[in-house]
This record gives sequence, C-alpha cells and structure tokens, in this order.
Amino acid sequence: MKDIFDKLYDKMGPLGMHADDAHGYFTFPKLEGQIGPRMMFRGVEKLNWSLNNYLGLANHPDVMKADSDAATQFGMAYPMGARMMSGNSNYHEQLESDLASFIEKPDVILLNFGYQGVVSAIDALLDRHDVVVYDAEAHACIIDGLRLHLGKRFVYKHNNVEDCEKQLVRATKLAEETGGGVMVITEGVFGMSGSQGKLKEIVALKEKFNFRLFVDDAHGFGTMGKTGAGTGEEQNCQDGIDVYFSTFAKSMAGIGAFIGSEPNVIKFLRYNMRSQIYAKALPMPMVVGSIKRLEMIRTQPEHKDNLWKIVHALQGGLKEAGFNIGITTTPVTPVLLNGTIPEATHMTYDLRENYNIFCSIVVYPVVPKGVIMLRLIPTAVHTLEDVETTINAFKSVKSKLDSGDYRKETLASVS
Ligand SMILES: Cc1ncc(COP(=O)(O)O)c(C=O)c1O
Repeated sequence: MKDIFDKLYDKMGPLGMHADDAHGYFTFPKLEGQIGPRMMFRGVEKLNWSLNNYLGLANHPDVMKADSDAATQFGMAYPMGARMMSGNSNYHEQLESDLASFIEKPDVILLNFGYQGVVSAIDALLDRHDVVVYDAEAHACIIDGLRLHLGKRFVYKHNNVEDCEKQLVRATKLAEETGGGVMVITEGVFGMSGSQGKLKEIVALKEKFNFRLFVDDAHGFGTMGKTGAGTGEEQNCQDGIDVYFSTFAKSMAGIGAFIGSEPNVIKFLRYNMRSQIYAKALPMPMVVGSIKRLEMIRTQPEHKDNLWKIVHALQGGLKEAGFNIGITTTPVTPVLLNGTIPEATHMTYDLRENYNIFCSIVVYPVVPKGVIMLRLIPTAVHTLEDVETTINAFKSVKSKLDSGDYRKETLASVS
C-alpha cells in the first residue's frame, strides 16, 4: 500500500513545483514596515503595488486608533464562541445594520472569513435539486462552494452573456424536472483581469428566466459605484442582486466579510451556515474597527476619489506608453507581456532589485502559457510621482524583455 505522502513528493502542484527556487522572493515574500506604497523588502525600501488596500485605510491613523482602542477595551478574545451560542454583541449587530443601509439591502450577516463564507453560503443556500449557472473564471471560493453542491451545475464562458443565457435554458429545463431552483453566480469585479461581471445584463435575463443572482463583489465594494457600494451600484442594478457578498480583506483593509440579502435569506443563513454556526465570531477590534472603516467610506469620498485619480493616471499612462492592460474597467491593473516563466522571474528580479518596484507577478497556470502578467493594485495613498516612476521602469524592463535580455533557461536565482 502507498503512503499517503508519497505523491506529495512526486507532485508539488503547478505552483509548488517552483517552491525551492521561488520561496521567500517570488512566493511568500515578506513586506515589512507600515502598510503603504513604500515598504521594506529584504531590507530595502520598495515602491509597492501589490496590496489590495484600495482606499488606503490599512494604516490610516483613525482606523489604527479605532482598532487599538477596541483591542485595549476588549482584547482579541471577546466575544468567545460562535455568534449563535455565546459570541454575539451589540457591535456585531450594529456593523450588520450599518452595512445593510450602505449597500441598500434589507439585512446583512457578518462572516468571519470571506473564502469560507462563500463556500458555506453556497452550501447552505442550495440543495441537491437546485441547479447552478456560473462564470468560468469564478474565484476559487465559488468553485469550492460548488464542490459541496450535490446538484447539477453549468458553467458559462467568462463574461459571455449569450452563453450564460444558453446555460440558463439548460438549467431551467433541468430544474423543472428536479423540482429545484436556479442560481447564477458571478463576481462583481474579476480580481485578475479587472473586468466587471456583466451584472446588468444578467439581471435583465430575469425577464426571461426564473433565477436568483449571487454576486461576489470582493474587489468592487468600496471602489465601484457613486458611493462605493459596489458593482451593482456602478451598473445601476443593485436591486437585481439577490445575494450580495463582499470581504473586509480589500477596501476595508481588515478581515471578515458579509452577505446582504432579504431578511428571510439572512435569517436562514444565520441558522444554517455551517461556517458561522461552528466557528468563532469575529473578534471585537475587527468589528469596532470595521464600523469605523465603513463610516469613513460613507462620509469621506476623498479616499475613493484619490484612488480613481491614481487609477486613471496609471492606466492612462500605461496605455499611452503602449502597454497592453487588457480590458480592465476597475482599479485592478494587469500589464500583459509575452515570455516564459524564467523570463518572468528575471524581469521581476530586475524590477525589484534595480528599479525598487514591487508588484505581483502572475504566470501559468493562472494566465495562459507564454503570458506574463504584472498585476498592479493602485491605492488612494499612491502619488502621481509613484505612477510616473513605475511607468518609466516598466518601459525600461519591457524593452529589455523584448530584446531578449531576460532569456534564460532557469529561474532567477534569489538566495
Ligand atoms: C473574489 C474574491 N472572493 C473571495 C475572497 C476571499 O475573501 P477573504 O480574503 O476574506 O477570505 C477573495 C480574496 O480575498 C476574492 O478575491
């Protein structure tokens, strides 16, 4: 009989296979110092474009004060236990009600993590008779939620409403046979390409089909829409989103997440979501700190305005310099180049060591073979000077990439 661990030595997985060369540099890097555009990497300050701190709230003095006052008052342990048993508080309920008014949904449930929240919400809302129609590029948490789903699912081509409609025809027929319902699941903003889910067009399909729409708006909350209430607000179709999810891990610069929906759905989730019933509630500093962050998002539009000023300068400047930034219409800024994985590592090494620019590098299997994606996340606390420095550095490394300077057989050595 095999040892269960044998296969782990043979197959580390598509990313794990590079672990020995990449660990600590390309993967699991340590960014140190105050969260912001300038952080230390291996002892040297870098201009950093790799944090989802969209609104710059992570170390805003008012946010840090709210978090630390709450930690002083309550510690990190309170409340002990799951919400249902012994972990509820007035602050948890206040945050839910503040979020509900902000996103204009009747009710909200807080979640202790975004990823497991989505997995568990999909698990709770669907039974074996229900049929799911979902976007091919849906986030891993949606895919993992669907792994728990015992009924059928139909995938539609990424952001292709025509194909979504085709799959809805199949799903509707099947649900009529099984006696279940249909749920469409997509993202509000796709975190790699920066494209928006076609929410308005999907909502319009409700005129022809009977389904409920679940939207994961992790990257849209705080960044999109007039008030920052997300991609539904941006596309003027928030009412058509039946289950609205977002995380605190991005614009809210924290941890935790929430779902907004109609009161019966939220009541059902409170009493049926296994990830919330069998896990500890969010600690008080995160809850009190999130109330503060949300108040700032609501009352201080300058954070979102600053973000978009940087987004426009960065994306406009990159396009003007001839870079391919794909089809983003959101702050997520991919820069698409052609090259091998070794070339990607040599270029990123050069960018980090000689230009002091730190951004995430994305290669196969996340993007197709032969594509190198440098992923930039602009934030409200970057400056126009940061944008200019970065575009100049990108021009320089791209010309080296094009002239073959990074063409090597092996990954960059970083020890
Ligand atoms: C689209 C999307 N959904 C869900 C999550 C998971 O959220 P969390 O980090 O709160 O677990 C993420 C990443 O943070 C995400 O990008």
